Amino acid sequence: MRLIKLDATASTNTFLKELAKSGYLDDFTVVWAKNQTRGRGQMDGNWCTEPGKNLTFSVLKKMEGFQLNKHFELNMAVSLAVFRTLDLLKIPRITVKWPNDIMSGSHKICGILIENSIVGISLKSVIIGIGLNVNQSYFPGNPKASSLYNKTGILYDLEELLHSLMQNLEITLSMLQSGQEKVIHREYHSILFRKGVASTFKSGDGSTFNGIILGVGNEGKLRIRLEDDSLAEYDIKEITLLY
Ligand code: BTN
Repeated sequence: MRLIKLDATASTNTFLKELAKSGYLDDFTVVWAKNQTRGRGQMDGNWCTEPGKNLTFSVLKKMEGFQLNKHFELNMAVSLAVFRTLDLLKIPRITVKWPNDIMSGSHKICGILIENSIVGISLKSVIIGIGLNVNQSYFPGNPKASSLYNKTGILYDLEELLHSLMQNLEITLSMLQSGQEKVIHREYHSILFRKGVASTFKSGDGSTFNGIILGVGNEGKLRIRLEDDSLAEYDIKEITLLY
């Protein structure tokens, strides 16, 4: 891994994307910024955290030949790497909320944003952005967010944590690239947030419905048993899990 440390940048994903355009970069080049002034989240959202207290970093991973329709497996592998790291630290009740929010109990403690560079139907490389809330204690206006510190009372060394996340990321991504998708699927399913539990979802039109999460299909769609006992599959853009 090659680590580039920055005091501040708008978004580490954007910074790394620009850097990758300008020339050759090693696999697993990491850009870590103490402060992001315009951190980006999923669905064009933003990612704002307190400077210096959390991990906000991006990783360049070469994925030559990796089929685009397996993109969700990449999400699974990255989520698993974060899960394994936090599980080793004994952070309580870690699960993965579909598609890739890392939860501790009912709080989100980590978000993942994966961006592609595409050639034909396969990926050339991806930029994996990870925002992990580590030592921040207050999340004004965001009662669903929390941090490792809030969960354990321990202040963590950010660089140590970054290295162990990277170790696990190298392991789960090499599992993916060496044909061990089934292991990844199995482990992801075993830690899926609210699996088997009655939950409420919001559709794109704003209406809500109830159902039980059964798992995730091969293309990354969420499988739900609806109240009338029928089965349905939804894409990431179609629904949000409310509670
Ligand atoms: C989410 O909305 O859950 C995804 C958040 C991803 C945030 C990380 S922080 C490092 C990287 N740079 C960004 O601008 N976003 C990602």
